[in-house]
Amino acid sequence: MNKRRRIYEGKAKVLYEGPEPGTLIQHFKDDATAFNAKKHALIEGKGVLNNRISEYIFVKLGEIGVPTHFMRRMNMREQLIREVEIIPLEVVVRNVAAGSLATRLGLEEGTALPRSIIEFYYKADKLNDPMVSEEHITAFGWATPQEIDEVMSLALRINDFLVGLFLGIGIRLIDFKVEFGRHWENDQMRIILADEISPDCCRLWDVATANKLDKDRFRRDLGGVLEAYQEVARRLGVLTENRPPKGAGPVLVTSNGTKPN
Ligand code: TMP
Repeated sequence: MNKRRRIYEGKAKVLYEGPEPGTLIQHFKDDATAFNAKKHALIEGKGVLNNRISEYIFVKLGEIGVPTHFMRRMNMREQLIREVEIIPLEVVVRNVAAGSLATRLGLEEGTALPRSIIEFYYKADKLNDPMVSEEHITAFGWATPQEIDEVMSLALRINDFLVGLFLGIGIRLIDFKVEFGRHWENDQMRIILADEISPDCCRLWDVATANKLDKDRFRRDLGGVLEAYQEVARRLGVLTENRPPKGAGPVLVTSNGTKPN
């Protein structure tokens, strides 16, 4: 268990070699980062909550026919996943203006968009994940036009489903980020949902109060980060008897005092 081969370590997760070829173990850490890791804290128990929340959402998406990398949860912080070749794009779907879109286009946060909008960002920390168009994606060979079509169609199906799922528990899905990967089975390649879906990569506002129940609480120093994630987990019905430890709040590791967007 301790001597597993580490394949990749990201800001919030670690990937280990899995028990079978073609599988990996995805481990959720308590680290929270923002502004390309210039701000970093540990939020005790966040990894446990995200593991549960993401499992719940991926299983539900699987049930409606969205192919995902999720196989099964292994323990409090880990899940067994299918190994994929990650498409180097962050795919953002937006229903309501917020964050960088609100800043970029001078829209008031909370303004409903005329329709759901998909954006692509090139996954490159050194470049701060710049926004790119389909032209860049195809010209540089990050994905083919057919793959982009498939990614967009999956992203919209995921959005439709999640909007309803969250509305049912009194939460407005403002926007979210997903990642996809290529998965081969007997020479057949298909695009499947990878990574995670949790309050780390969604904007979730309480319908009644507009309270933020997501990582913006950390990005914008609003406090109550763990409590917000617990609330999402509780409403989804995935907070178990084995409650995650109640942390004393975020422990600031580094901060450059960047203003939230
Ligand atoms: P943005 O408004 O900052 O562009 O974020 C759009 C959505 O994407 C929001 O739900 C947060 C999520 N997101 C990530 O998951 N990772 C990131 O690195 C960034 C910048 C945003």
